[in-house]
Amino acid sequence: MGTVATTGRRDAGLRMRPLRADEVFVVAGLVRTAAPACAPMAPRDVLEHLDGFEVVADRRDRIVASAGLWALPDGRLELRGLVVAPRWRGRGLGRRLAGRAAARAARRRRALVCVTRSPGFFEQLGFQRIPLAGVPPKPLAAHGSDGERPRVALARPARPAAATRGAIA
Ligand SMILES: CC(C)(COP(=O)(O)OP(=O)(O)OC[C@H]1O[C@@H](n2cnc3c(N)ncnc32)[C@H](O)[C@@H]1OP(=O)(O)O)[C@@H](O)C(=O)NCCC(=O)NCCS
Repeated sequence: MGTVATTGRRDAGLRMRPLRADEVFVVAGLVRTAAPACAPMAPRDVLEHLDGFEVVADRRDRIVASAGLWALPDGRLELRGLVVAPRWRGRGLGRRLAGRAAARAARRRRALVCVTRSPGFFEQLGFQRIPLAGVPPKPLAAHGSDGERPRVALARPARPAAATRGAIA
């Protein structure tokens, strides 16, 4: 999967790669600690969706960011567990992971949905708001510093009408 060029700073030897089964606790922990306002994710859930995950690892092969794809009963895919460790934010990793997830969904001709408290991040990637009721509910985050912000559902069609900044690098 190759190295990841980050924006604005020295390349830190980051690498995009699949998630390994022995790392499901790492991803669940990353979501819990670095994305407390997002829906919690049990290691078992991560394991069941192992093939849907991509992660970014640092030069010591430690996971610094992740994104997972969940198949919904109606055929759409849901982007879950998109999280970048705080010290690695602002370098384009979130956009890169979300863009790659969108590309995987497009290759499978599936619409991609997500539920988030940060809709602006996804709107700039070509996602559009949809009714929250249109996405199956998940457990709510039990806590979180910005947990009071409303959850917003968004979707990226299987064939986006126009190229966006979310296009795959
Ligand atoms: C949201 C998150 C994944 C972004 O990751 P990141 O690597 O810092 O994002 P990028 O560096 O790729 O940023 C890409 C663009 O999105 C913008 N952006 C980043 N976070 C944003 C947010 N919360 N809301 C709106 N825009 C945001 C950046 O400013 C940047 O825009 P620019 O190119 O005009 O400068 C990261 O902040 C995170 O892990 N947050 C906690 C978990 C979370 O909220 N996940 C979302 C699904 S619940």
